[in-house]
Amino acid sequence: MAVASQILVTGGAGFVGSHFVRAACDAGSQVVVLDDLSGGLMPTLPAQVVFVRGDIGDRALVSRLLREHRITAVVHFAGKIQVGESVKLPALYFDVNVVRTLALLDVILAEGPDVFLFSSTAAVYGMPEVVPIVETSPLAPINPYGMSKLGIEHALAAYGVAHGLRWAALRYFNAAGAHPDGSLRETHDPETHLIPLVIDAALGRRPPLTIFGDDYATPDGTCVRDYVHVCDLADAHLAAIAALGSGTAVGATNLGSGRGFSIKEVIDTSAQILARPVPHVFGPRRAGDPAILLASNDRARSVLGWRPKRSDLVTVIDDAVRSRR
Ligand code: UFG
Repeated sequence: MAVASQILVTGGAGFVGSHFVRAACDAGSQVVVLDDLSGGLMPTLPAQVVFVRGDIGDRALVSRLLREHRITAVVHFAGKIQVGESVKLPALYFDVNVVRTLALLDVILAEGPDVFLFSSTAAVYGMPEVVPIVETSPLAPINPYGMSKLGIEHALAAYGVAHGLRWAALRYFNAAGAHPDGSLRETHDPETHLIPLVIDAALGRRPPLTIFGDDYATPDGTCVRDYVHVCDLADAHLAAIAALGSGTAVGATNLGSGRGFSIKEVIDTSAQILARPVPHVFGPRRAGDPAILLASNDRARSVLGWRPKRSDLVTVIDDAVRSRR
């Protein structure tokens, strides 16, 4: 698989970004990370990575990085990612995820790298009526987070037509797991995602988990999600760069395992792996949660040649546990 040799990775200190950086370095790419470290702690990045602390909206800085490092592809992970926060602080989400991303794209168009990967999300689908979700399903985000991501997807499609930008908007379902060597982990601040909260509750590091609603129209009443391993996400990004480089129109593409698990199943599997119970209580539904999010990954398989390798639930949780011990 031919991958671009010089890649600018925004948000490369984040959860998915840091795993991509590791995979890209392993594949022989030179990587420059631009990150403002607003999302949490600095991970251990490979020694050869050039790390720059800064803002994606800083046009002079981005321009300098693109030129100095002769960047051929930009992978844009940086952004605000919490659904609940986006409802309370929509201006922040539209500023970072739309305004600053458009500024980044302006500089990219001016300086020349024409391969652009964008971290999109299942939240662009809102409350899906039919699962598994295919890319042609209705796009109806129900929160500013999803709206902000969809806004950039529309911009990318238009820039592709107008300026020849080669782009992919990779719609992640529930990114989870961690590098199997345990050296990288999910470090959101604050942590709101289910699997780290389940593990930490079992290890006594956090209060018992609150299950947000058990009266959904699902087999056991709790929400069903599609957990996709972060290393499989990283591989999909490498495949997307290679595909765009060889002229394939990737566009908007789901990245999910294609299998759904309820919150109770996640708890039961975690309890087995940890050999201890997961303390939990039941609470009300969380606003904006769809009952079921489940990807069709047929497009990723056919267009990217992608096959998830670690996205079975046991491996996802096992790797997450190892990273949190
Ligand atoms: N959950 C709990 N208790 C918790 C945390 C989560 O019950 O303390 C539940 C949630 O209600 C949900 C499931 O566990 O049913 C998974 O929740 P996460 O917060 O881990 O992830 P989400 O499904 O909310 O997030 C995903 C993606 C987002 C995307 C969103 C769209 O990570 O990028 O789906 O709804 F925007």
